[in-house]
Amino acid sequence: MAPRVQKRFENKIAVVTGAGQGMGKQVAMDLAAEGAKVVVTDIVPELIEEVRKEIEQCGGKCMSVICDVTSSEQIDRMIQKTIDAFGRVDILINNAGLLIPGTIEETSDELIDKTLDINVKGVLYAIRAVTPLMKKQRYGRIVSVSSITGKRGDNSTIFVYGASKGAVISLTRSAARQLGPFGITVNAIAPHAVMTSLMSYWDEEKKREVAEQIPVKRLGTVEDISYLMMFLASDESSFITGETININGGYYMD
Ligand SMILES: NC(=O)c1ccc[n+]([C@@H]2O[C@H](COP(=O)([O-])OP(=O)(O)OC[C@H]3O[C@@H](n4cnc5c(N)ncnc54)[C@H](O)[C@@H]3O)[C@@H](O)[C@H]2O)c1
Repeated sequence: MAPRVQKRFENKIAVVTGAGQGMGKQVAMDLAAEGAKVVVTDIVPELIEEVRKEIEQCGGKCMSVICDVTSSEQIDRMIQKTIDAFGRVDILINNAGLLIPGTIEETSDELIDKTLDINVKGVLYAIRAVTPLMKKQRYGRIVSVSSITGKRGDNSTIFVYGASKGAVISLTRSAARQLGPFGITVNAIAPHAVMTSLMSYWDEEKKREVAEQIPVKRLGTVEDISYLMMFLASDESSFITGETININGGYYMD
C-alpha cells in the first residue's frame, strides 16, 4: 500500500505574500518541499532573494517577485508574472501583515490607514486579482491570516489591528460563498503568540506570562502555523470553506 500522504502540492502553483520571513517564509519553504512551485513576494527584496535561494538549494522551484500588497497594481502585476511563468495560480496565501500596537488614544489617522491598507486592502486586492483565473480553472485554495484579536478584541495595546483582522474574517466568508461553486475554498487562520519579528515588541517577561496562560504551556512556532496553512491549501480540506480557524494552544476557543 502506498503511503497516504506524499507530496500534496505536486503540479500546484502557490503565491505567498509577506514571504520574506516568519510564517510566510516557513509555509513557502514547506509548500516547495511538498512539490509546489512557489512565488515568494514581499516588500523587502533581500529577504525574498534569500528565501528563493534557500528553496532552490533544497531542490524546490521558486520565483521571487517584489510586491507591496497596498498597491492593487503591484498585486495585479505579480499575479500576471506568475501566470506568465507558470500558467496558473492554485494557492494564494495572504500572509503579509503589519502590527503597530496602539491604544484607542494612540491610534493616529496614519496608523489606521497604514494598518487597513496592508491587512485589509492587501487581502481584498489579492483575492480579486486571482478570482477570474481560479474561476476559469475551477480550482483554488485561498488562505488568509487573521488573528485572535480579530475575533476577541484586545484589552491592552491593540485597536486598529484587531479591526483589520476582523475584516479578514468577514471577507473570507463572503469570498467563500461567492467562490464555492467554482471549486475554490476560502479560509483564514487566527493565530496567537507566534514568535516572529511582528511580535518583537513583547519582552521576555511578557512572553513567559503569555505562555503560562496558554493551556499547552508554550508559545506558537512558525511550523505550527505552516502545518495548518498547508492543510487548508491542500485537497484534504476541500469540504472546509469560510472558516477562520483558531491556532493558539487552547488560549481562546469559540
Ligand atoms: N506572530 C503572531 O503571533 C501573529 C498572530 C496573529 C496574526 N499574525 C499575522 O501573521 C501574518 C504573518 O506575520 P508574522 O508574524 O510572520 O510577521 P513577520 O513580520 O515575520 O512577517 C510579515 C511579513 O510581511 C511583510 N510585509 C509587511 N508589509 C508588507 C506589504 N505592504 N507588502 C508585502 N509584504 C509586506 C514583511 O516584510 C514581513 O516579511 C501577518 O498577517 C500577521 O498579522 C501574526
